[in-house]
Amino acid sequence: MGILLVDGGRTLQGQVEVQGAKNSVLPILAATILACGQCVIKHCPRLRDVDASIQILRHLGCSAQWESGALVVDTAQMNCCSIPDELMREMRSSVIFLGAVLARCGQAELSYPGGCELGPRPIDLHLTALRALGADIEDRGGTLRCQAEKLCGTEIVLSLPSVGATENAILAACGAEGTTVICNAAREPEIMDLQEFLVKCGARIHGAGSSTVTVEGGRPLHGCVHRCIADRIAAATLLSAVAAAGGEAVLTGVDYRQLSTVTAALSEAGCRIRSQNSTISIARRDRLHCIRPVRTAPYPGFPTDAQAVLMAALLRSAGATVFVENIFENRYRHVDELARMGADIRVEGRVAVVCGVESLHGATLRSTDLRGGAALCVAALAAQGQSEIGELHHIDRGYEDIARDLRALGASVRRVESEEPHGEENKPEAQAKRKIRLSV
Ligand code: EPZ
Repeated sequence: MGILLVDGGRTLQGQVEVQGAKNSVLPILAATILACGQCVIKHCPRLRDVDASIQILRHLGCSAQWESGALVVDTAQMNCCSIPDELMREMRSSVIFLGAVLARCGQAELSYPGGCELGPRPIDLHLTALRALGADIEDRGGTLRCQAEKLCGTEIVLSLPSVGATENAILAACGAEGTTVICNAAREPEIMDLQEFLVKCGARIHGAGSSTVTVEGGRPLHGCVHRCIADRIAAATLLSAVAAAGGEAVLTGVDYRQLSTVTAALSEAGCRIRSQNSTISIARRDRLHCIRPVRTAPYPGFPTDAQAVLMAALLRSAGATVFVENIFENRYRHVDELARMGADIRVEGRVAVVCGVESLHGATLRSTDLRGGAALCVAALAAQGQSEIGELHHIDRGYEDIARDLRALGASVRRVESEEPHGEENKPEAQAKRKIRLSV
């Protein structure tokens, strides 16, 4: 599996293009099932979760392969409508295949999804939406058997603007007769990208980005060529890295409007940020200072996925900053790891108070989940000495090559593959072996 070796204490300088968006490409890959024919997905990030989606598509009888840097999916030969448990457990987004398979085949069989452990992550809203469209769903010991002779357009009111439930409802509604109106829909930019992809395939959908999305279903969809939007959370991670370590950098290929709450927080803390067209430049010279409470919320509120990396950027700020995690119950698992570096964070339920410290020191760390792992990288850049970050499979789920991107900004970050099995990389004997190997 391997570890990241991060030498902290250096200011950053450089430019990097932001990778394609994980949370956009995953629902788009599920949506390819609705399009009979070939879909070419450009700017598709090479992630563990994308690999998991490719495995699901191939299991369903579709072809999916990389050609000249794009992912080419052809679903014409699809011949299966069930997804095995081990593929479902790979990630949360596997559940988005439910709406697409149901719309295409009139039936689907799968189990509950896996993904980052951020507290309870039910799919009740997904199932309620699909039932409203006419699906008959039975839970048999954790296996969901879904039947829908005919899906019919209807009004779906989501009790909360769930990203996944909105995506599943849109995909199933494409296969339904008549018009579906999704109220209190999620407004994330990734939903807009999904709409753009489906419209290119011939669908009639409008309203993505607002709380009301309308789908005129029952239209045959065809393949298309689509370029994925940039990953605003990967961009937030890189901005937080510069804020933590100091220096200056330019991010390219990113829509700064999608990051307004993140850049506002970093500016308030003392960073100088300039945004134009598809670039964001950031500079940080003086010590950061604390900011007003950061409350995570559905888009356009402050993204829960950027909470951990912003927290890591503020560990050495002057004063104390309060974080309130409103989306997930258990999204502070990175806090204990950050404390190993000398961070001072107090957690009480969904509230965390970051008390800025003068300095941090390198440590041996373990990623706890995707964004928690990224936060360890950010903090390690601000620490004196070297840090070792293990459990990289979490980070690989959502970052194409975080070491490469941080090195482009002048950071000293190396990925060292290790012979030790996953989860053993940080054991003392493994570290000893590695030290010998690295010193050779
Ligand atoms: C998406 O997850 C993202 N994942 C998450 O990013 C992100 O944190 C989340 O949206 C919120 O922005 C992808 O897009 C692949 P939700 P999703 O349904 O769809 C509750 C990352 O780091 N809920 O909007 O799972 C749920 O428990 C990941 O990239 C129900 O109660 O999020 C949560 O508290 C992590 N019932 C809240 O809603 C449901 O049926 C928001 O969840 C569905 C959700």
